[in-house]
Amino acid sequence: MNEHDSEKMSALLENVGFTQVSAAEAADVVVINTCSIREKAEHKVYSALGKLKSLKKKNPAVITVVAGCVAQQEKENLLHRAPHLDLVLGTHSIAQLPNLVEQVGQSRRQLESTAFAGDVESLHMNAPLKGKNQICSYVTIMQGCSNFCTYCVVPFTRGPEQSRKLDEIVDEVRDLVKRGIKEITLLGQNVNAYGKDLNNGTLFNDLLKELNGIPELSRIRFTTSHPRDFNDNMAAAMADLKSVCEHIHLPLQSGSDRILAAMNRGYASLEYMDKLQRLRERIPNVAVTTDIIVGFPGETQADFEDTQRALQIIRFDQIFSFKFSRRPGTAAREFPDQVPEEIKTERLSAVHRIQDEITLQHHKNAEGAIEEVLIEGIKNGNGQPFGRTRTNKIVNIEGSERIREGDLLKVRIVRGLKHSLLGSLIN
Ligand code: 5AD
Ligand code: SF4
Repeated sequence: MNEHDSEKMSALLENVGFTQVSAAEAADVVVINTCSIREKAEHKVYSALGKLKSLKKKNPAVITVVAGCVAQQEKENLLHRAPHLDLVLGTHSIAQLPNLVEQVGQSRRQLESTAFAGDVESLHMNAPLKGKNQICSYVTIMQGCSNFCTYCVVPFTRGPEQSRKLDEIVDEVRDLVKRGIKEITLLGQNVNAYGKDLNNGTLFNDLLKELNGIPELSRIRFTTSHPRDFNDNMAAAMADLKSVCEHIHLPLQSGSDRILAAMNRGYASLEYMDKLQRLRERIPNVAVTTDIIVGFPGETQADFEDTQRALQIIRFDQIFSFKFSRRPGTAAREFPDQVPEEIKTERLSAVHRIQDEITLQHHKNAEGAIEEVLIEGIKNGNGQPFGRTRTNKIVNIEGSERIREGDLLKVRIVRGLKHSLLGSLIN
């Protein structure tokens, strides 16, 4: 979501005549897009602010902007803290970036724009012309989150859940496809709740069906799904709709029911496993990835063992794991029995050890399989083409000069490595 916001901001500035430069020293405007999901991400902002200070000293005309979730969270405090900062741009103000930059340029006064927009239409959600590459694009389908998991800052920094209209999304995807995009990733904090707030009967499955009907679009991905809202209908849609890829990112967070309840996740671990089991029955080769938090307040050794056990039972293809981080405004920040840092560190390493072995095993099991790979690029250094399987695994392809970006190829997996697969083209 954050990456896509950066793409939008750079496209909006390019629309009014700016061009990207490779060094901050050469820029007229510097935008730092920020994340506040964990403390570590937020800390990066403060070291970046230090760099802006020296930049401003050398070139007082440069316009400095902090955007994103830290901007939203800290608002005008950032302007007090960093007098060399010109503009604080909240998560709902992205579309106003060019205007505000112009205003700052004229008035040379510090500005802040962090109000939440009343409706999703004012947020300028269209995908920019230049995305992460010319083959794959993100498409925002909803903004914000209303779940209030007790550890999470997102409902505060991105506001309440609001879905975009189905027609608007479909038009955007058609446009992308005309420009040569072959794969889209639908973005939302909780995509399976898509449409509920529209109150017109449209739900996530309707959107998937509609998009699956666009013939030139090869692949549809989506993230993130919430286990509580994931159901059999969605599993059926994934199985039946040709363009919908066989991969789901379904954050479990913890294997302990006590902790899941304290997190306000709205499901128990068995329920999660049950839903997954039914999905795997429909799509045996489905890839499943997840997020895990270790060291949530009150997490005992026994709770943590439940998480370890869940990892062993479920055997995710890949996980993203984090130490619990106390975030401003969240309920869990104030919970008793905060877990000491050393224990969090130990638990995180234990989780890594378990999962590294499982991921490698998945990759080894893929050896010999024939996979469809969408080529996303050619590596600069060695000219090696790379892409992803439908199950979202990275495949580097052994030398073939005929391969071009955007090709959809049948590839035999010859080796499963720690982070990727090695494939060779089938003639
Ligand atoms: N501490 C640690 N991890 C967090 N996440 C969200 N908030 C926190 C927090 N306060 C993780 C969750 C979520 C992912 C995007 O980030 O696992 O799924
Ligand atoms: Fe945060 Fe929970 Fe919403 Fe995900 S579902 S963005 S973890 S509040």
